[in-house]
Amino acid sequence: MKQTTQAAPAGQARDAFTSSFGVLAATLGSAVGLGNIWKFPYVTGANGGAGFLLVYLLATLLVGLPVMIAEIMLGRKAKADAVTTLRVLAPKGQYWWLIGAFGVVAAFLIMSFYSEVAAWVFAYVFKAISGDILSSDPARTSAAFGALVGDPVQSLLWQWGVLLFIGGILLLGVAKGIEAVTKKLMPILFVLLLVLGARSLMLPGAAQGLAFLFTPDFSKITAEVLLVAMGLAFFKLSIGMGTMMTYGSYFRDDQNIPVTTARVMSADLFVSMLAGIVVFPAVFTFGFKPEAGPSLLFITIPAVFASMPMGHLFMVLFFVLSAVAATGAMLSILEVPVSVMAGRFGISRTKATLINLGLLGVIGSTCALSNNVLAHVKLFGMTFFDLFDFVSSSILMPAGGIFLCLFVAWVWGREQMTAALSNDGSLQNRQVIRVLYWLLKFVTPVLILLVMLKGLGVF
Ligand code: PHE
Repeated sequence: MKQTTQAAPAGQARDAFTSSFGVLAATLGSAVGLGNIWKFPYVTGANGGAGFLLVYLLATLLVGLPVMIAEIMLGRKAKADAVTTLRVLAPKGQYWWLIGAFGVVAAFLIMSFYSEVAAWVFAYVFKAISGDILSSDPARTSAAFGALVGDPVQSLLWQWGVLLFIGGILLLGVAKGIEAVTKKLMPILFVLLLVLGARSLMLPGAAQGLAFLFTPDFSKITAEVLLVAMGLAFFKLSIGMGTMMTYGSYFRDDQNIPVTTARVMSADLFVSMLAGIVVFPAVFTFGFKPEAGPSLLFITIPAVFASMPMGHLFMVLFFVLSAVAATGAMLSILEVPVSVMAGRFGISRTKATLINLGLLGVIGSTCALSNNVLAHVKLFGMTFFDLFDFVSSSILMPAGGIFLCLFVAWVWGREQMTAALSNDGSLQNRQVIRVLYWLLKFVTPVLILLVMLKGLGVF
């Protein structure tokens, strides 16, 4: 059943998700991505393993979950893009819509570096198939990765290819594009992950890998690490920058938002754990170090697979898995500016998609060139790639999260929130809403602010 809404032209149904499974697949498709497979293992590896994991879990529960529910709730209420949603729901003359506008900026920054990492992943699918990167010598896999990222032409062409691929799916629309594709991809992702996890657990270093992931060492937890963990929680759940608001606007009216959100969060954590279970036992078995950083996926992992019986096949599966995960996430990042542009400027979805692709082709290229011709261009000591990552995860998304909490709890208010989350009283979840309300009013925004200020060295 399609929903008729304010934002659609009179008499016309607004394009939206059509089934409950579609809602789940698309939302989980947004959450699960390179964040689980690339970022989570490398930041966990670089920050000491289990201690980091614990902080990350706390950030996900106390910050991630409430903000995600709030965002989806607002989107579904207004059934519009991220800017229009806040314009419609806020009192006249107030500037809450800026959350949506900054969300568009964050979406551009994230998509710029994300599409480049995705570019490497897509390139690696082909390199894995051809056996090009199959070497158990990290010096060789490192040289292979260096040759790819060091070449501006290859980096740009793969990135533009990825952008066109994602844009092509978005052109098909919300139900026929995003929903249809993620419904097919998500089951494939889980099967691949389970196969790879089982393979990794059979390795001799499995116990050591699991111990690294599950035995905490708190000496590594500094203020910066707290900020990294919180930033990861935002990045993972696609919150604080309008994605969940936009997807919320495609939710069905009978969808149970708190339950769906909790499911997505749990499934996302499960995927991260499994990714950790795939990566760390393998890393330890073959004598590699877990703290390799962003290159863990591209240098260490191929060397690990090359050392493993049937490694060629499993390496192909691993990079296909990563490409699948990246696709669902990129659809949701790009959907933010596409829907805002279509909604605010009254242009067609097709035009909005094409314009955004053009803009990203230019802005994103700074990240494709960050490892070659622009490697020496640094702002605040960071390349464009690192800067865009830092500004989005450590500043824009947490700041967006704070303002969303403030808006929902202090401006929109408890009554409206209760009506929205209980589907106008048809769900018996008053206690849950109560807890959420208090979290959003005091706990979550204060926590975000403290972690942000401390992590950025303000006090
Ligand atoms: N959650 C995605 C991931 O983990 C990334 C993402 C961030 C998607 C922001 C949408 C918005 O890969």
